[in-house]
Amino acid sequence: MRRGVARARWRAAGVACGVALTAILAPVGGEEPEEERIVRLLRLAPGQVVADVGAGSGEWAVKLARRVGERGRVYATEVTEDLLAALSDRVARADGGRIVVVRGEARSSGLPPGCCDALLLRLVYHHFTDPGAMRADLSRALRPGGRILLIETRPQAAWRELPEVPDRGGHGIPLDELLAEWASDGFVEVTRREAWGGDPERFAVLLERGPDALGR
Ligand SMILES: C[S@@+](CC[C@H](N)C(=O)[O-])C[C@H]1O[C@@H](n2cnc3c(N)ncnc32)[C@H](O)[C@@H]1O
Repeated sequence: MRRGVARARWRAAGVACGVALTAILAPVGGEEPEEERIVRLLRLAPGQVVADVGAGSGEWAVKLARRVGERGRVYATEVTEDLLAALSDRVARADGGRIVVVRGEARSSGLPPGCCDALLLRLVYHHFTDPGAMRADLSRALRPGGRILLIETRPQAAWRELPEVPDRGGHGIPLDELLAEWASDGFVEVTRREAWGGDPERFAVLLERGPDALGR
């Protein structure tokens, strides 16, 4: 009987240790890793086609490629010459033919119409010099019912100025302005995260192409 009690205590202590260890290893704030949040919000699954718009050095395109599997595809778009070169390099090293590097322009993504189940714009939208043209273009690239995840930052007064972008009070965009701009093109908010991590000013908004969205 006493041995049974001792065993139960050891078991409880083991569970407690496991819980403590998980808490220590978990990212700050107990949030799941960013990659998991992105995959879950965009409902990414093997075989899907997703675009990483403004992919930068390609870190996220490579992660997304792993998640859509061999039958899936990732379009990684960029406009900056040296980043396009770095992106192509990284893709050549990491990819199994799943990532297509796309040269975009200030007013067009270069994505084929209706190509994508989902779009990721991570810290990119506030860089657009013609956001209206890009919204229309991205709307055309998205399949009906497709989702866009916008990870953004509220205006950061101390960050460098971005030439030719709309003045929204600094480097970034307020959440309500972001929502209003996309709503004007018929996009509907699915959910938002007022805090995204990585930076106190960072947030995320998930949108869906509504019935009145451009590009139908
Ligand atoms: C802050 S970086 C973000 C890079 C990457 N998404 C990340 O999260 O690490 C913004 C990127 O947007 C790109 N960009 C700006 N305007 C663009 C456009 N119209 N189409 C595609 N990319 C654009 C810039 O070249 C830059 O690499």
